[in-house]
Amino acid sequence: MAQSYGSYQEEIYLRALGGVLPQFPMEHGELEERARAALPPSVWSYVAGGAGDERTQRANVSAFGRWGLMPRMFVGAKERDLSVELFGMRLPSPLLMAPIGVIGLCAQDGHGDLATARAAARTGVPMIASTLSADPMEDVAAALGDTPGFFQLYTPTDRDLAAHFVQRAERAGFRGIVVTLDTWVTGWRPRDLSTGNFPQLRGHCLANYFGDPVFRAGLEHSPEEDPGAAVLRWTQVFGAPLTWDDLPWLRSLTDLPLIVKGLGHPEDVRRARDGGVDGVYCSNHGGRQADGGLPALDTLPGVVEAADGLPVLFDSGVRSGADAVKALALGASAVGIGRPYAYGLALGGTDGAVHVLRTLLAEADLIMAVDGYPTLADLVPEALRRVA
Ligand SMILES: Cc1cc2nc3c(=O)[nH]c(=O)nc-3n(C[C@H](O)[C@H](O)[C@H](O)COP(=O)(O)O)c2cc1C
Repeated sequence: MAQSYGSYQEEIYLRALGGVLPQFPMEHGELEERARAALPPSVWSYVAGGAGDERTQRANVSAFGRWGLMPRMFVGAKERDLSVELFGMRLPSPLLMAPIGVIGLCAQDGHGDLATARAAARTGVPMIASTLSADPMEDVAAALGDTPGFFQLYTPTDRDLAAHFVQRAERAGFRGIVVTLDTWVTGWRPRDLSTGNFPQLRGHCLANYFGDPVFRAGLEHSPEEDPGAAVLRWTQVFGAPLTWDDLPWLRSLTDLPLIVKGLGHPEDVRRARDGGVDGVYCSNHGGRQADGGLPALDTLPGVVEAADGLPVLFDSGVRSGADAVKALALGASAVGIGRPYAYGLALGGTDGAVHVLRTLLAEADLIMAVDGYPTLADLVPEALRRVA
């Protein structure tokens, strides 16, 4: 299962000898800049923007700069093993593609969910498919090839619809359900507010709802006949403000691994664990939901400790392979990539997203080679030091 992700650089240098330079950016700053130019302004601001003055969003990124990996020499880490065991599956790498609700719109053809699934198929990096997708979850799952996928649930207020989404995800072959807890209401997002930009209200990325018989049963006319009424119904059913009392019901919906996303407080992690979840997902939604919060990375050690061996997924602010290595060293079992793959997709569809994932993996792999950490098990908190 060990793969030499670092060999991506040889591929690039060799192609350059033949006069072919990389089509896509090699670092995040340029990726962001070019994605901005490639996307319609409304999609760009929706993806790049966050809550409030976006301080938490920026802090997510800068938090990584406060940690550094201690180099170890004479290790001869000629081969590195980045594979992980997660929910009974052996995955070739510890990366995941975090759920992005408007990923459909990020691809130039409007089918970014399918393009992301194909990127998962090509890289072995699992996709966590959002409830909010331009194509139905069944089509997304079919494009994943042999790579496992997870379905991210925004829990509808209508419990029958919630249960039906989970049943559909099971039937489609998803290998776990990720329930997002921090987005039953949309956070305060000045960029989007100033342009009145909310894609779902314009009917975007609602394929999972509009094609669902349980959703359709709540409508007088079909979404095809009266899209406005269907969107209005969607606003009514979108987000249930869940409490701990709802956890047994959520747990009862599926035998698939159940993962809860948005946790930061150790006490919440303990309660979720006691409530029978299979994994916790430490994230602050990339700073899109609540400003004035802690960088997600700062909450990770407490989450890992409270999880007490339960898998901990992490995202928010990962922009490089170096960032991924640090999150893994702080105890994440797997690391979610968010905005970067959306930007790759904007530039080059599946090829662009694959490139972004390969650059992250190559850098992580080469850091482990250079600094003498041949396996993920070697990446422990003691391998990191606080930067003075
Ligand atoms: C445009 C956009 C849409 C998102 N949609 C969802 C979603 O549908 N479900 C979800 O759980 N998280 C969603 N997220 C949050 C991501 O899963 C992830 O937590 C976040 O992107 C991590 O932050 P980063 O991209 O800055 O690294 C979204 C993020 C972005 C940027």
